[in-house]
Amino acid sequence: MTKNSFTTLAEEVIARCRKLATLSEDAVGTRRTFLSPPMHDCHHEVSSRMQALGMNVSVDAVGNLRGFYPGASPGAPRILMGSHLDTVPNAGAFDGILGVVLAVAQVESLNGLKLPFAIEVVGFSEEEGVRFGVPFIGSRALVGRVDEELLGRKDENGISVQKAIQTFGLNPNEISRAALGDDILGYIEFHIEQGPMLESLGRPLGVVEAIVGQNRLEFIFSGQANHAGTTPMNLRHDALAAAAEWIVTVENLARSTPGIVATVGFVEAKPGATNVIAGEARATLDIRHASDHARTETLDELIRQAEAIAARRGLTVKWRMLLSQNAVLMDSFLTEQIEHAIKKTGCEPHRMASGAGHDAMILAEKIPAAMIFLRTPGGISHDPAESVHLDDVAKALECGHHLLAQLASSQEFLGRTCRA
Ligand code: GLV
Ligand code: MN
Ligand code: MN
Repeated sequence: MTKNSFTTLAEEVIARCRKLATLSEDAVGTRRTFLSPPMHDCHHEVSSRMQALGMNVSVDAVGNLRGFYPGASPGAPRILMGSHLDTVPNAGAFDGILGVVLAVAQVESLNGLKLPFAIEVVGFSEEEGVRFGVPFIGSRALVGRVDEELLGRKDENGISVQKAIQTFGLNPNEISRAALGDDILGYIEFHIEQGPMLESLGRPLGVVEAIVGQNRLEFIFSGQANHAGTTPMNLRHDALAAAAEWIVTVENLARSTPGIVATVGFVEAKPGATNVIAGEARATLDIRHASDHARTETLDELIRQAEAIAARRGLTVKWRMLLSQNAVLMDSFLTEQIEHAIKKTGCEPHRMASGAGHDAMILAEKIPAAMIFLRTPGGISHDPAESVHLDDVAKALECGHHLLAQLASSQEFLGRTCRA
């Protein structure tokens, strides 16, 4: 492949991502949550491309789309490449899906050449946690972590994960078959950085050394709903006001604790009327830090603060943990190989930690995993303004091409025993 042909392929990759962004639950903007109807269309679109390349396509029992490109010999080990197909509400066109479309394009760039390993491209069904409040359902199935508690979890319409799987035409009894086999050499994920670092350094590509840990929780403040006109201010038990005080506390504590990022991204007041004092307020918390110790210490303090605020206002507060995920390191061998591959494209690689969560952090529990970041213009993500530069996508394809060649000729890599 020449530099020009990487650019031509990169144009197609961007056009495919933009087209896939039109497959949405919402009339305006992209929202494609776990096993929602547009996910069928997304599977159809991505799998036709895979099939055209001679890949063997299947959908596992949690809805991960899997395309298998065989290796040079029968029974050759495999590498996994991919990212997620689901989106946040009002999403951009590249978070997740770029990693899937790039992986398919990487197979395309081989022009039928078979490597000493097979390539399985995985389009994970769920990474964002939008529909059920818990992220990584797709990758959790690969490491055998989809349990009864997760299957019973319900969405806003009272539909359980188990029911959603059945409605999509899949069989929840077959989830164990989605698990990783013992023939995996590693997992490689391309993803947009979703932050400003690479842009500020003027570098198109970065290599991820670690992914920060995160917790996601739901808090419910319970007070007393009452009349907005007749209840004196000193006799109120306003759940929304308590939640609001706590939200500002979250921001203040996060600002004053180095490295912590904490977000309340969802609030709901009940009953939710202008002239009714809120009797209940529900708020989510997302908290992250590179150090697990610093994260859990700050989280404990935020829980104490929620309880103190509720008690002072004559309310109660309950919380439940939706996710507790420690920070993970990426595989050092693959990370070095990625650095070499980036250098071969003529770019200087930048080693960095990822503040965003990724499927790679789940797979890293069982197999060597690594990530390559693409510069994100303006650092904007989780928003329709999210974009990529054509040249950066071409560099990513070229980097992937070098990486596959390096791995194909590395006895150290091919001789690795799998930890799955
Ligand atoms: C994934 O987008 C995350 O929330 O980190
Ligand atoms: Mn995301
Ligand atoms: Mn993502």
